[in-house]
Amino acid sequence: MDFLEMKDIAVEYDSNGKKLLSLRDISFSVKSNQFVSIIGPSGCGKSTIIKILLGLLKPSLGSVNFSGKPLGFATPKISVVFQNAALFPWLDVLKNVEIALEPLTKDENYIKETSEKFIKIVGIDGFEEAYPRELSGGMKQRVSIARALVTGPDMLLLDEPFAALDVFSAQALREELLDLWESPTIPPDTILMVTHNVDEAVQMSDKIVVLSSRPATVLGEINIDLPRPRNTRSEEFYSVVDSVVKLMSSV
Ligand SMILES: Nc1ncnc2c1ncn2[C@@H]1O[C@H](COP(=O)(O)OP(=O)(O)O)[C@@H](O)[C@H]1O
Ligand SMILES: [Mg+2]
Repeated sequence: MDFLEMKDIAVEYDSNGKKLLSLRDISFSVKSNQFVSIIGPSGCGKSTIIKILLGLLKPSLGSVNFSGKPLGFATPKISVVFQNAALFPWLDVLKNVEIALEPLTKDENYIKETSEKFIKIVGIDGFEEAYPRELSGGMKQRVSIARALVTGPDMLLLDEPFAALDVFSAQALREELLDLWESPTIPPDTILMVTHNVDEAVQMSDKIVVLSSRPATVLGEINIDLPRPRNTRSEEFYSVVDSVVKLMSSV
């Protein structure tokens, strides 16, 4: 069964009294253990899809199902990482991670130990007492990933998580995130990433859903079964990049 199914989703924003159609007829699905990317130009409606999945925005039309149950009845555990790490500046690294667990349990030892475990998993142990302002962009994003994973989510949502990083930090973090995802002992099984970076989507995903410019519609899907880690210089890689670019410019 599909883990996530979005069907015929439309979203109309009210922009100063004027109606602005952001999404139109958006349908796609994500299976358990799949890494799916949604790619589309800036402003097409990618973050709008994330807002729907987080329950922050009700679509004007269409349905969202998790494991066959409508959103609202289903209670999948979902975490999100945004482009800007969105950390609390007045809290240190440990506290920024712990805060995700605090609504879920009162067991302070569990909160501390689990948070420390994930801080180590994302490679920033030793910085538990540092404040966000003392960290590089890549390190902040690691904290944000630790905070997203510490609750053991079924699905991780990524909204352009590497877009604000320098190329080296971005590449390192992509590879590490893929390693985490492939590790059987670390959640989540399922990742949905939105991005405007074609190479990034081809490097990471099992499937790419290509959106048009606003109002976003699905131009097509591309399945990628190249083995990982992927050689981003290989002919097979470029050929997938080519087909994504062709699809993106098909309107
Ligand atoms: N709360 C809102 N009210 C009105 N318009 C919005 C709102 N949020 C987003 N939009 C508009 O909807 C479109 C899609 O936005 P968004 O989903 O953020 O795009 P993306 O993430 O692909 O860059 C944009 O034109 C944006 O200006
Ligand atoms: Mg966005």
